[in-house]
Amino acid sequence: MVDRELIELSQQLKQVEEKGFAQFKIEEEDLPYLISNLGTVRAQYDGNECGFVEYNYKSEGLYSASSTGELEFHTECTEFDEAPPKYLLLYCIHPCERGGVTKLLNLSSFFESLPEKDKNVVGNEAIEFGSTPGLLADKGFVQSSVYPIFSAKKNCFRFSKKCMNYESSDELVSIINKFDKFSEENFIGIKLEKGDVLIWNNHLLAHSRTSYVDKKRKLKRYWIND
Ligand SMILES: [Fe+2]
Repeated sequence: MVDRELIELSQQLKQVEEKGFAQFKIEEEDLPYLISNLGTVRAQYDGNECGFVEYNYKSEGLYSASSTGELEFHTECTEFDEAPPKYLLLYCIHPCERGGVTKLLNLSSFFESLPEKDKNVVGNEAIEFGSTPGLLADKGFVQSSVYPIFSAKKNCFRFSKKCMNYESSDELVSIINKFDKFSEENFIGIKLEKGDVLIWNNHLLAHSRTSYVDKKRKLKRYWIND
């Protein structure tokens, strides 16, 4: 990378620290350098450093990143006991024209909008987080963890509207109803073009995806520990 590109890169990484996310163009060959500036790569479900987010006919109709369906707000890797990766990085190889919009939502802002009694529930009531039905169908993978949504000690949220077991708690059901309204009013929608990279803080921001049509849509995905 030339000096000008290195300066732009450091400005974008500063954005990730200050705003929680950044979107910019980068050459695919420069991804390893970018990642090395964020931390260390954590292996994907299949053990590889890079995962591909793309259509798989076996996952169609299931709740899965490999389907063309909508994904609800979640943070990544909630079902593991180890701390979730600090950063999530997507790199767009093949965009799609209609749909496939990534939505980001600041969970810390949502938390701050809650009354104290709700904050106590979010910070103390442990719930079960499970794997998606798509992972189970595709890889026979199933895993679960039990944590509160917010860990103040680690300043880290775990959230998965679809894959966390909150329905048995009236307080949590009420909080998730508030979340639905908050997320509808405060999400940031991001459309990825070819060569775009999107990085965000997975400890503080939840993400979701709208459904899409073009089955050639293809993204690279990296999980990065700081
Ligand atoms: Fe995800």
